[in-house]
Amino acid sequence: MKIVLGCDHGGYELKEIIKEHLMKKDYYVIDVGTYNIESVDYPDFGKEAAEAVIRKEADRGIVICGTGIGISIAANKVKGIRCALCTDEYMAKMSRMHNNANMLALGNRVIGSGLALNIVDSWISTEFEGGRHENRVNKIMEIERSRKEEE
Ligand code: RB5
Repeated sequence: MKIVLGCDHGGYELKEIIKEHLMKKDYYVIDVGTYNIESVDYPDFGKEAAEAVIRKEADRGIVICGTGIGISIAANKVKGIRCALCTDEYMAKMSRMHNNANMLALGNRVIGSGLALNIVDSWISTEFEGGRHENRVNKIMEIERSRKEEE
């Protein structure tokens, strides 16, 4: 599985920890930055990571900022993205099983790195359940399609 990582300065430290963790597990990791703790704008990196998923350069994406909020909002603006901000393993599993989330967002200033890695592992290894959830996810994507047509 190919995983793209993106973060701002607030998420940099955790992005590096997640990157090392995934590479040790032999995942193919694409890192779109940021690459240090200099102040940057999280929408730039949320967008870049999300577009890598949409272009199918990566199967899934993980984005990190201070809270996880800004970068998840940015990623969710890219058509086709379902980015779930998770603070525990239950949310991570459910975001895959019920929402077929193709991106995960984490807040480096909200959770510790141990929990973050457990969330990442659960999220990566959990499959979408499909069935009744398929119809609901399709309805989400339909909202996106109809909004775009109105513009
Ligand atoms: C940057 O200071 C901070 O605003 C950002 O990392 C994030 O928390 C935004 O949602």
